[in-house]
Amino acid sequence: MAVLQWVEDLNTGIEEIDIQHRRIVDYINRLHELRESPDRAALSEVIAETVDYTISHFAYEERMLEDSGYAFTDLHKRVHELFTRRVGEMQTRFEAGEDVAQELHTMLSRWLFSHIRNEDHCYVDAVKTYQRMTGKGSKQDIEHTKQQVMHKLEKKYKRKGFFARLFG
Ligand SMILES: [Fe+2]
Ligand SMILES: [Fe+2]
Repeated sequence: MAVLQWVEDLNTGIEEIDIQHRRIVDYINRLHELRESPDRAALSEVIAETVDYTISHFAYEERMLEDSGYAFTDLHKRVHELFTRRVGEMQTRFEAGEDVAQELHTMLSRWLFSHIRNEDHCYVDAVKTYQRMTGKGSKQDIEHTKQQVMHKLEKKYKRKGFFARLFG
């Protein structure tokens, strides 16, 4: 699978979400560059960053869906959860010395675009309506949500500074 290219139909029109999705694509492309590298430390770092950033994005998105009262929030969370587990298993295999970079890259590439098109796009109307009706979605709201999500993730993963470097 080649370098991922962002295409217009992936945009949700929710600015912060599009920024985050594009950033995941950048991480996946870095993984593509390094996938055959003999430098396992560099590979390990890019895998960890890709996974951490994806988890951060999921948490942000889920908070946004909860706030918006999106009817299928639980289902959407479940999809994220299953995917996080699959990626986690692959990361464990990598840390155990297996050569999974190519497999991980293929899985992330296929999954991300399909998830954006098929599942993320479903919440767009609900979120936009909520933001329009409440005046939410300002820069300040986005920062506030990020802070809350960051706090929650730091607690959950017991890692100080978790994703501050990513969302900063
Ligand atoms: Fe999602
Ligand atoms: Fe998403």
